[in-house]
Amino acid sequence: MFKSARIKITAWYLLAILVISFIFSIAIYRTVASDLTARYVNIENYIKSNVRDMEKIPPVLKNILQNDLRTAKQRVVIMLLLANGAIIIISAFVGYFLAGRTLRPIEEMVEEQNRFIADASHELRTPLSALKTSTEVALREKKISGAEARNILEENLEDIGSLELLSERLLHLSQYQKGEKVLAYERINLGKSINVSYKKILPLARKKNIEINIEVQDNYIEADRVSIEEIILILLDNAVKYTPDGGTVSVSSQIDGRNAIIKVIDSGPGIGPRDIPRIFDRFYRVDHSRSKIKVSGFGLGLPIVKRVVELHHGSVSVSSKIGSGSTFTVRLPAV
Ligand SMILES: Nc1ncnc2c1ncn2[C@@H]1O[C@H](COP(=O)(O)OP(=O)(O)OP(=O)(O)O)[C@@H](O)[C@H]1O
Ligand SMILES: [Mg+2]
Repeated sequence: MFKSARIKITAWYLLAILVISFIFSIAIYRTVASDLTARYVNIENYIKSNVRDMEKIPPVLKNILQNDLRTAKQRVVIMLLLANGAIIIISAFVGYFLAGRTLRPIEEMVEEQNRFIADASHELRTPLSALKTSTEVALREKKISGAEARNILEENLEDIGSLELLSERLLHLSQYQKGEKVLAYERINLGKSINVSYKKILPLARKKNIEINIEVQDNYIEADRVSIEEIILILLDNAVKYTPDGGTVSVSSQIDGRNAIIKVIDSGPGIGPRDIPRIFDRFYRVDHSRSKIKVSGFGLGLPIVKRVVELHHGSVSVSSKIGSGSTFTVRLPAV
């Protein structure tokens, strides 16, 4: 598809250059031809004024002058044709090269989108097929007790919840990809935003008997409140999700010079040096099987964090060691 587009663009470049070159060639030919003719007329006039008896001028001389004029004009035409030919050949190569460069970012974007669609469909398939299988099995049962039916419905509800979360994450990620225009900047209190996200994660933390230490002040930043609360929740969700029962999580915010710094620290399994550079990639999930942690997810949380932080002209980093927990640090420009 891109190859034919590249050839088409090259053809359009060539056509435009050809038209321009043709117009210039005609203009050059006309100027040079009229200049040559004027010179010929000058010579003829000079001869006429200096030679009294025109009859005495040998016709051979007249023919020589006229032939010279014709040859000079023909030479101009040949030179212009050669120049046009060279322009066409050079433009074809340059045009093909430029068309390739013009199309490259578009090609990369389309490739990226195709990869995104393929990954997203792959992630959608797992909960959907679980949902389908359990419904089919239930339908095949001749007699199904109320408790069994309830069990199946509860399982299905879990899968539906998972699908809901996936579609929400995909939607948010694609919205944030659009750029800054999706953000509504306002002066927000970071401490308050952390409290909002903290309250949302509290039920899960209580379920796992995880204590969350919160240390915040009234720090103000210019940011989009909804997306900031979302990324704090994602970081807290990861910290609680991956930390084994009875562990600890802490979240803090402070101002350091021109930056507001949010830190989420956990006593979880940690992340290995090979995985650290990749955890911000879309759909990337670390294999925690060695630490026997089985947590569901899609690998979309951290990419959202990275994108939102980028949109706010900030940065996100992680320091972690297997077995020693993780620290996620978000830096955002303060007001
Ligand atoms: N605090 C943490 N401790 C250990 N591993 C973590 C932590 N945070 C993230 N990770 C690793 O990084 C991976 C990517 O995290 P991310 O939040 O993007 O996806 P996820 O949690 O798997 O799924 P979801 O899309 O539901 O957030 C996780 O799969 C996990 O292996
Ligand atoms: Mg996550």
